[in-house]
Amino acid sequence: MTARLSFARPDDWHLHVRDGGAMRDVLAHTARRFARAIIMPNLKPPVTTVPQALEYRERILAALPPGTAFTPLMTLYLTDRTTPADIRQARSCGHIHAIKLYPAGVTTHADAGVTDLNKLWKTLETMADVRLPLLVHGEVTDPAVDIFDREKLFIERVLAPLVDRLPGLRLVFEHITTKMAVDFVLAAPDNVAATLTPQHLLHNRNAMYAGGLRPHYYCLPLLKREHDREALVKAATSGNTKFFLGTDSAPHARHAKESACGCAGMFTAHAAIELYAEVFEAADALHKLEAFASFHGADFYGLPRNRERIALQKQSWTVPASYPFGEDQLIPYRAGEPVSWSLI
Ligand code: NCD
Ligand code: ZN
Ligand code: ZN
Repeated sequence: MTARLSFARPDDWHLHVRDGGAMRDVLAHTARRFARAIIMPNLKPPVTTVPQALEYRERILAALPPGTAFTPLMTLYLTDRTTPADIRQARSCGHIHAIKLYPAGVTTHADAGVTDLNKLWKTLETMADVRLPLLVHGEVTDPAVDIFDREKLFIERVLAPLVDRLPGLRLVFEHITTKMAVDFVLAAPDNVAATLTPQHLLHNRNAMYAGGLRPHYYCLPLLKREHDREALVKAATSGNTKFFLGTDSAPHARHAKESACGCAGMFTAHAAIELYAEVFEAADALHKLEAFASFHGADFYGLPRNRERIALQKQSWTVPASYPFGEDQLIPYRAGEPVSWSLI
């Protein structure tokens, strides 16, 4: 008998859908699986104002396949110039659910990010007051710091002092990659949570170098050591409400990845919930998948849990070699290889 799973429709609490024709192509993958997603604001130029976020929301809604029920949950990109008034306006518009912190230069389209968090104190206090979460790409940008240690140093230099100084701020430590990050989140107050990506649950850093340099396993923060991966799996499958699903699916055109200076980001939206099912099955924890994928994030964001359901079956399928991506081509995670669960 084929194993089947049915559970409340999940949400993706960290997603890049880009814009224009490329957006249309990637969005359908997410909308088939997820009811809602937190939409990252790192467009070029970034989504820094409420009107920009509302316009982006309209473009997303217009790009959905007809008849699809999918809700984009918008975010604003924090800059050195974001004011308390911007935060209040974001809160009152009803469609903005978080503010995203990219330390300047840390990742794809992060050059307009924050240079010094200390200068944004009033803005952060306002976020705590109006209960608008801060989503954090948690890596230092200091080029002297070993790239595999940048999350660890960010915890020590930025995150721990921030949580001490503003314990009431709701904060999501995005796409965590280390045991140290898991331990930090566990020890932090209840209003500090974390998202976990499929790639960091499935792979350690060897994947980037297996038999040659593999640009499609390059994302930021980088994949880490096996003992880190094990700690992430333990956190995801623990049932602890601080940990929830956020794919960080981050599509780039093939030529931008397969290049002398390739872009960071892995595309996983085409198989996202199926990949988490693989992780939970391998950890003997399929009974914990629903809460991780469908409850913890909604509860953290103060949104209702989804009432519709989705179903998966244990049936292998082969990921296409590529997908269309606007005028370009996209190489998905696991291109040409099997995924062991399929969406019914
Ligand atoms: C993301 C992207 O391409 O937008 N890339 C990535 O490697 N994760 C940016 C991000 O989430 O840091
Ligand atoms: Zn990031
Ligand atoms: Zn991201």
